[in-house]
Amino acid sequence: MLKTHHCGELRARHVGQAVTLAGWVNRQRDHGGLIFVDLRDRWGIVQIVADIAHAPEAHELAARVRQEYVLQVRGTVRPRPADRVNPRMETGEIEVLADEIVVLNPARTPPFPIFEDTPVEESLRLRYRYLDLRRRRMQRNLILRHRVIKYIRDFLDARGFLEIETPILFKSTPEGARDYLVPSRLHPGKFYALPQSPQQLKQLLMVAGFERYFQIARCFRDEDLRGDRQPEFTQLDLEMSFVTREDIMELIEELMIGIVEECSDCRLLTKPFPRLTCAEAMARYGTDKPDLRFGMELVDISDLVAGSNYGIFAQAVAAGGQVKGLRAPGCAGYSRRQLDELTSLTQKEGAMGLSWLALSPDGEIRSSFARFLTDEQVQAIIARMEAQPGDLMLFVADRPPRVAAALSALRLELGERLGLRDPGTMAFCWIIDFPLFEWNENERRWDPSHHLFTAPMPEDLPLLDTDPGAARGQQYDLVCNGEEIAGGSIRIHRREVQEKIFGLIGLDVEQARERFGHMLEAFEYGTPPHGGIASGIDRVVMLLAGEESIREVMAFPKTGQAVDLMANAPSPVDPEQLAELHIRVVAS
Ligand code: AMO
Repeated sequence: MLKTHHCGELRARHVGQAVTLAGWVNRQRDHGGLIFVDLRDRWGIVQIVADIAHAPEAHELAARVRQEYVLQVRGTVRPRPADRVNPRMETGEIEVLADEIVVLNPARTPPFPIFEDTPVEESLRLRYRYLDLRRRRMQRNLILRHRVIKYIRDFLDARGFLEIETPILFKSTPEGARDYLVPSRLHPGKFYALPQSPQQLKQLLMVAGFERYFQIARCFRDEDLRGDRQPEFTQLDLEMSFVTREDIMELIEELMIGIVEECSDCRLLTKPFPRLTCAEAMARYGTDKPDLRFGMELVDISDLVAGSNYGIFAQAVAAGGQVKGLRAPGCAGYSRRQLDELTSLTQKEGAMGLSWLALSPDGEIRSSFARFLTDEQVQAIIARMEAQPGDLMLFVADRPPRVAAALSALRLELGERLGLRDPGTMAFCWIIDFPLFEWNENERRWDPSHHLFTAPMPEDLPLLDTDPGAARGQQYDLVCNGEEIAGGSIRIHRREVQEKIFGLIGLDVEQARERFGHMLEAFEYGTPPHGGIASGIDRVVMLLAGEESIREVMAFPKTGQAVDLMANAPSPVDPEQLAELHIRVVAS
């Protein structure tokens, strides 16, 4: 090794020891006869002193080093004089008096400072990702990621799971996104699809008798990106045989509690994790991934305003819609401009507008609609909302999906504004009893709400023939702080049920055989009842790290436009390469 110690590990107990260190120049300060160099490696930073009186050559060299030079330093650990002890540095009690300094590699001036936590434009960070990754925050995030994955592996290994790799070049394994396709050179006109998840393969591993499988699996989905979505991302993918959904939920719950308690400083809000049915989550929070770090539940006032003189409310109820609201504590003083901002937020979610009622601290009422209602109606609303003086109440009247979308967005915004979304708190919940299908109006067919292989609730099986929309799936999602961090289900293991599902989603026998024939065939050779789950590791680590985007916990992520700014991918390829792949590019 070119070093005997790590920079960050030196403490008072090392005083008097001769050490050799290697790392990057974090900062250099020239005080004439004394030059201080903060030397950094993955373990931290230590102060090097080059003293002209002690080692003139080392001093001369230290005068010339710049930020991010790579140095090797030979010297002795000594205590810092009392007035130079730095309690904010882990190595702040000591310094290393340099005998010799060697420049292992010089460095150009970096495009942004490495040693300060100053904000830097993200595209610049991604363009120079290898420099960005030197920064403390990114080092901390990737170390956390490593620890989480290590914890998962140890946890599952101890419970008899086997980690088995599955192919990346495969056939379409749909999870509701577009596939990334890879052309075959050997088979003109044919393509592999990159797996959107290892779903089919892990089910086939159950047919193969492995019983407990997991994988830290890379998944590929060509879909619209946002902060919590990347075109390639990592799942903890898991499957078990001879289980009920209860077994899988218990296992994952124990795993998640362990991850939070053992790998992070975050606080778990509740354990065991609360469970909500999908319908209940929609009714109370307007979303199937509620942020439970705060309350502010949606309240239905439809019955109180049906037939009232306020047309917006009365008409919505008469048309089969609803009027729901939420209460923002202490926000009665919101200005016109603040109310306008909240209104346009709900309009972005498709609502026509926002009606509001403010109860001032001295009990006075200010409202966009109270003048159209009787005093009794207004008082009934205030009572139903459990409003206190100083509270603001906000209402949306529309069809239920619009009301849900608008109020859910509003709830999150108010939670943010009121500081109720503490990043150090982890609020998990299970969402269960999803409908098995969603109606696709454009294609006029049923779409699976999870994926094609999810089993119906046993008691809902007959509904597949009579009322598919009412059938519930044996499906479960794990949500934390408003993010969906895992989803899974008990699978169909009988060929005839699987064929019925294919039929309902509009795949005829021929298409089903072409796409999933291997699954259907496998199911004829003795398939154990099985189920599983997959958790988005990037999202879990993002939440634990208190970050807003999964890009912050991935070493080399892509932009929102699916571009790698560092390597400049995707990029054009040679015509010869295209010809070999039997591909012609058609300019659009
Ligand atoms: P699902 O599609 O719900 O289920 O995915 C499981 C989890 O993966 C994460 N995730 C993503 N993370 C980052 N970027 C993306 N584009 C992205 N898409 C999904 C989420 C999600 O909860 N095969 C099934 C699992 C199963 O049934 O066992 C599946 O993939 O955290």
